[in-house]
Amino acid sequence: MKIGVYPGSFDPITHGHLDIIKRAAVLVETLYVAVVANPNKNPLFSVEERSEMIRREIQGLPNVKVDSFHGLLVEYVKSKGARIIFKGLRAISDFESEFQMALVNRELEPSVDTLFLMTSPHYAFLSSSVIKQVISLGGEAKGMVSDFVARRMKEKQAQSGTPIKKVKSG
Ligand code: PNS
Repeated sequence: MKIGVYPGSFDPITHGHLDIIKRAAVLVETLYVAVVANPNKNPLFSVEERSEMIRREIQGLPNVKVDSFHGLLVEYVKSKGARIIFKGLRAISDFESEFQMALVNRELEPSVDTLFLMTSPHYAFLSSSVIKQVISLGGEAKGMVSDFVARRMKEKQAQSGTPIKKVKSG
């Protein structure tokens, strides 16, 4: 059975992520969208909040499951019986770090390989970070995230009483 893992911060999920999820889901029997719990980053949303938003977005994709992990990605991938890591590539600037991560992961676990899907051109400019900046400055994220996610971002900003900080994440 072909099982794939699409890992990421998803802080929050964008239309670009969703495009990769839909395209990866047709290539495997089961796709795990794996939210990283990375204490070194300072995410806007908790792992639970990020997972919940993804769950809403993937309704209608029966072979996609949402999960979370911490520690080494390849260990998580193995624990799911998977051998494929899916990554989206947006621009040449993504390539260097993705190339390094793919090589490190293969060194750590040769049985696991990384498959890169090129972004759909329409989403090439999108990242969670840039959307956080747009929202924090009072802009509209229409066409970048779903209306639900945009609302959750605005609520978060209102709750914290301070503008959403632009954090470095994918
Ligand atoms: O959406 P992001 O922030 O670009 O996702 C990065 C992610 C989760 C894919 C990356 O941080 C990761 O693989 N984390 C797990 C730690 C790990 O396995 N490191 C060794 C390989 S570089």
